[in-house]
Amino acid sequence: MSILVTGGAGFIGSHTCVELLNAGYEIVVLDNFYNSNPESLNRIKKITGKDFKFYEADIRDRAALDKIFKENEIEAVIHFAGLKAVGESCRKPLEYYENNIGGTITLCEAMRDANCKKIVFSSSATVYGCENVSPLTESMKIGGTTNPYGTTKYMIELILQDLYASDNEWSITILRYFNPIGAHESGMIGENPNGIPNNLMPYVTQVAIGKLPQLSVFGDDYDTPDGTGVRDYIHVVDLALGHIKAVEKVLSTKEVNVYNLGTGTGYSVLDIVKAFEKASGKKVNYKIAPRRDGDLATCYSDPSKALNELGWKAERGLDKMCEDSWRWQKNNPNGF
Ligand code: NAD
Ligand code: UD1
Repeated sequence: MSILVTGGAGFIGSHTCVELLNAGYEIVVLDNFYNSNPESLNRIKKITGKDFKFYEADIRDRAALDKIFKENEIEAVIHFAGLKAVGESCRKPLEYYENNIGGTITLCEAMRDANCKKIVFSSSATVYGCENVSPLTESMKIGGTTNPYGTTKYMIELILQDLYASDNEWSITILRYFNPIGAHESGMIGENPNGIPNNLMPYVTQVAIGKLPQLSVFGDDYDTPDGTGVRDYIHVVDLALGHIKAVEKVLSTKEVNVYNLGTGTGYSVLDIVKAFEKASGKKVNYKIAPRRDGDLATCYSDPSKALNELGWKAERGLDKMCEDSWRWQKNNPNGF
């Protein structure tokens, strides 16, 4: 019996593959390398000393999915595959709806027909929209997303809820990630953004290594302790370990459950800059710039439901997140 990991060559997927293999699971990985590199699969093998089956395939390709389910005994699916760039989603909404929503529907159809009805889905804190006040709890109303990427996550959550309502043989765990940063402590796998990064931590590491001249801090006049935006940064290895708990949950129940995966602590942009400078010994050149459209002042989780029901909590602090992000960047200045 294996766990199928869609998008397993990507940032969070690769770290989760490592933890699944370390925990003794057999895995089958599927990716189309749209936003990743085959080398990440070699690195997973090097880190764990274990091998696994890989399919270069697209989740929208029904025949390819049927082949995977036929050739393997898949017990459950962890579904990471998707497009995730907020700005790009505003320019290419059809591609985002088609890939993320169309792909998830095709995947669920193939799962249903193969009688594999256990799925862990990568959602995002973005589904809480801009009305809810942090700390965000799973019972808050979702929706009110401000970009097509966020709307795909919201709509997929609704689709999965409807799927369960139609057939409660399904077992579904929806994970709402906060801001994953850091990297595996080996420095062998990490986040590998194409072009100029949109997210804070990869931008900071590229400034520190001299690839980018200066960080723009988007706004210092928010209603936060130092005026810069506050987020719930979580080490990607803690996030990956949350998936191990989520897999145990989908394997042992026939329910639909939703969990925040965050630390419950918010840090500002300037907190991140300072912590990163301390961890790396490098100066991060920055300037204050105007606010970025669509940004919130503050966003952090209440992670207590995952603790109570999954027995999971994030263990790695901000210093470790920065150290590991820096080791990855330093060892791989041009990515994989
Ligand atoms: P990533 O881009 O590194 O990984 C996604 C992987 O999916 C990539 O390897 C990509 O090649 C693959 N992929 C995309 N479309 C595919 C398709 N149609 N068929 C097969 N493979 C496909 O992103 P990530 O940061 O690892 O994110 C994983 C998941 O978590 C995504 O669904 C993302 O939306 C979600 N998420 C990420 C964050 C974050 O900050 N990184 C936050 C919240 C949610
Ligand atoms: C962004 C997305 C969110 C997505 C998440 C993870 C937006 C509006 N939101 O979240 O939907 O789920 O990434 O991929 O894009 N910052 C700077 N300078 C930079 C980059 C960021 O000051 O160059 C600030 C931001 O204003 C924010 C914080 O750093 O306060 C974190 O930004 P980022 O890493 O982009 O994550 P989010 O905006 O939280």
